[in-house]
Amino acid sequence: MLSGRRILVGVTGGVAAYKAAYLVRRLVERGADVRVMMTRSAQQFVGPQTFAAITGQGVASELFGAASVSPHTELARWAEAVIIAPATANTLAKAAHGLSSDLVSATILATTAPVLLAPAMHTEMWENAATRRNVAVLQGDGRTMVGPASGSLAGGDTGPGRMVEPEEILQALELLLKGPLSGVRMLVTAGGTREPIDPVRFIGNRSSGKMGFAIASAAVASGADVILVSSADLPPPSGARVVEVETAEEMGQSVVKLAQEVDVVVMAAAVADFRPAVIEETKLRRTDGIPEIRLEATPDILASLVALEKRPYLVGFAAETGSYDTAIQKAISKGVDLTVANDVAAEGSGFGSDTNQVALIDSQGTIERWPLLTKVEVARRLCDHLAGQLNERAAKG
Ligand code: CTP
Repeated sequence: MLSGRRILVGVTGGVAAYKAAYLVRRLVERGADVRVMMTRSAQQFVGPQTFAAITGQGVASELFGAASVSPHTELARWAEAVIIAPATANTLAKAAHGLSSDLVSATILATTAPVLLAPAMHTEMWENAATRRNVAVLQGDGRTMVGPASGSLAGGDTGPGRMVEPEEILQALELLLKGPLSGVRMLVTAGGTREPIDPVRFIGNRSSGKMGFAIASAAVASGADVILVSSADLPPPSGARVVEVETAEEMGQSVVKLAQEVDVVVMAAAVADFRPAVIEETKLRRTDGIPEIRLEATPDILASLVALEKRPYLVGFAAETGSYDTAIQKAISKGVDLTVANDVAAEGSGFGSDTNQVALIDSQGTIERWPLLTKVEVARRLCDHLAGQLNERAAKG
């Protein structure tokens, strides 16, 4: 899984810097695209030439005077993950406080990629209250720590503070890159269905499919295996398997069949509630007079899923105008696990828009309101929320 992944390794000034050379070699062997940055003190322990020879790439160490105008932001944006190994007490302190006085600390501050820190220092420094505070801050900020281990340290000392072995860092990196929905199979529906009247006309709705497509993309990015059942006219999101449908009937058949194979179904589609009871085989003509179109109910897909004996985790959407009271009632009565209510009448929200204001309602009717966000951000947060819910479920057994 490391093949082709862009991994940035930051080496800071500790004796364990020699182990970073082996770490970098293992990353290269696993097919990763590796770049190395070093602090000046790291170069007291290992020379940049070692890393350059292993990676076949120049090593970055200076904020100023380098070929790039902005080496820290360039590296920060390039990286899919950043490993700091060894991470000295000084580097942890800088990272915890957002300091950026050298290339490594500036890159940590500038990146949005996950950062894995492998601390290495003397036991007294690791156990010092200042380091304990810094580690807590970093963990609270979403940085991941691997180690330190206990063992022999520089100068013949022993105790906690030793950098973990490169293989352990590789394992931690793999976990970090997996994404919160790794191993989860997810089905997402998107778009408004089209219910034919005759060969040229249909009853449709204003749904663009943007929300469902954003959820499918975010789920792929979070590591899920995604099937998108879509009636929307949008370019397919990369990494998802797309099943195209047109009517509520077709969507229902696909979804109920595929629901057996997945862990989660997110019904973001605006499925028609009614369809013409009779579909004319030939085009209705003006000369035949004004037609009367009798409607009938479409199959309720969510209800069919709720009724399944072995059913996946179910997410329904509720398009509301104004209050969420009805959505709360529906969330309790429908038997789904989670309802995403959106106020389609709110400013900047609803059909066709790139933003959305939603509220999550659980099966007990507890509501969590989210601010106005882009649909991409709503999708990302929803995937994180789902990952949390699935973990909770798994923990309960
Ligand atoms: N849905 C469905 N099958 C249908 C219609 C809707 O599975 N035939 C799903 C939608 O994909 C969505 C939720 O049900 O997840 C939407 O329900 P909504 O239209 O808000 O609620 P209804 O229960 O149909 O109530 P109403 O339209 O009366 O508000």
